[in-house]
Amino acid sequence: MKSSRVFAIISLFLTLLLSVSWATANNSSHEGFLECLESHSEPSNPISAVLYTPENSSYSAVLKSYIRNLRFNESTTRKPQLILTALQVSHIQAAIVCSKIHGLQMKIRSGGHDYEGVSYVSDVPFFILDMFNFRSVNVSIENETAWVQVGAIVGEVYYRIAEKSNVHGFPAGVCPTVGVGGHFSGGGYGNMMRKYGLSVDNIIDAQIIDVNGRILDRASMGEDLFWAITGGGGSSFGVVLAYKIKLVRVPSTVTVFRVTRTYEAKLDEYRLQLPASCRQVA
Ligand SMILES: Cc1cc2nc3c(=O)[nH]c(=O)nc-3n(C[C@H](O)[C@H](O)[C@H](O)COP(=O)(O)OP(=O)(O)OC[C@H]3O[C@@H](n4cnc5c(N)ncnc54)[C@H](O)[C@@H]3O)c2cc1C
Ligand SMILES: *[C@@H]1O[C@H](CO)[C@@H](O)[C@H](O)[C@H]1NC(C)=O
Ligand SMILES: *[C@@H]1O[C@H](CO)[C@@H](O)[C@H](O)[C@H]1NC(C)=O
Ligand SMILES: *[C@@H]1O[C@H](CO)[C@@H](O)[C@H](O)[C@H]1NC(C)=O
Ligand SMILES: *[C@@H]1O[C@H](CO)[C@@H](O)[C@H](O)[C@H]1NC(C)=O
Ligand SMILES: *[C@@H]1O[C@H](CO)[C@@H](O)[C@H](O)[C@H]1NC(C)=O
Ligand SMILES: *[C@@H]1O[C@H](CO)[C@@H](O)[C@H](O)[C@H]1NC(C)=O
Repeated sequence: MKSSRVFAIISLFLTLLLSVSWATANNSSHEGFLECLESHSEPSNPISAVLYTPENSSYSAVLKSYIRNLRFNESTTRKPQLILTALQVSHIQAAIVCSKIHGLQMKIRSGGHDYEGVSYVSDVPFFILDMFNFRSVNVSIENETAWVQVGAIVGEVYYRIAEKSNVHGFPAGVCPTVGVGGHFSGGGYGNMMRKYGLSVDNIIDAQIIDVNGRILDRASMGEDLFWAITGGGGSSFGVVLAYKIKLVRVPSTVTVFRVTRTYEAKLDEYRLQLPASCRQVA
């Protein structure tokens, strides 16, 4: 008697537990999310062509291609349920809308250089919106401006400018593989900082898709949001599509050099500057 009552209680408890988790898991289920993406994208630009689930043979390669901190290239790192390598604006809009409906966290990745892997690592179930296909760089020397999409890397930006002019440049990072999306939204410093400031000091317009899927430019987003996405990081505010930059004038010949100092040499220099009474302690 006793054991059958225990059994009854346990099975009742299990049934309750299962139905509760079934009810809540319903809309956050993987299939539900995929269906949502399909139903929110245009048939002329099928979203299935840009979806990678762990079952797709290229899933691992796509995931790893923009993991720039190898600490997070481990089997123990939590993996995204899906990678969406957007080709069209409609794909991004579907990702935003369905992420909200299904409560699945969206990580936006451009160049993947986040030091902490924030663009592709999470503590909760998530998917990656990968922006590497959005990488056009349209340079206008006539207007000394360029529209740069977030999936371009800064090396591509420098290259496209240099193709058209050897007396123009743009102040941004030293490392050529850093992505425009994270770099420009976060600040951007490099060799030209002393003369021209940060990247964000030379950004004049932007395109962003907000939480409701609307495409906004500087005029329609307003100065507060524009200010936020030019230094405050992008992912708290929406998906940045592109930045319009102001090119800066540079001489046709530039000399770049690096002075290497060892720790020991620096220490000697430091000691010499100290009053005699301190030298022994240092
Ligand atoms: C090797 C290396 C060298 C570096 N050198 C420099 C340097 O010289 N100067 C310098 O200033 N910094 C440098 N950095 C730092 C780098 O600028 C930042 O880590 C920057 O955020 C990387 O941008 P990303 O697009 O490559 O990174 P990601 O990892 O793709 O993104 C970084 C962050 O921005 C968010 N984000 C990315 N794209 C978008 C988007 N389209 N819309 C909204 N949010 C978005 C991501 O979600 C994440 O939170 C370097 C980093 C590394 C790893
Ligand atoms: C949950 O999923 C089941 C099976 O797909 C479906 O019949 C039901 O309508 C869904 N409920 C909600 C609230 O979406
Ligand atoms: C469940 O998902 C469907 C399809 O994405 C959506 O239309 C519906 O509003 C969602 N239901 C709830 C309760 O969130
Ligand atoms: C991934 O696999 C699914 C199911 O087989 C398929 O529908 C989808 O097109 C594949 N994605 C890509 C990018 O090939
Ligand atoms: C990442 O890990 C995989 C094994 O899971 C390995 O094949 C690959 O070489 C690693 N990538 C790099 C750049 O080390
Ligand atoms: C330069 O700016 C003018 C005025 O805004 C515009 O009409 C023209 O198309 C721009 N040129 C290029 C190459 O973008
Ligand atoms: C750059 O030009 C191409 C071709 O005209 C266009 O498709 C693309 O949207 C432009 N990019 C930006 C960021 O304006």
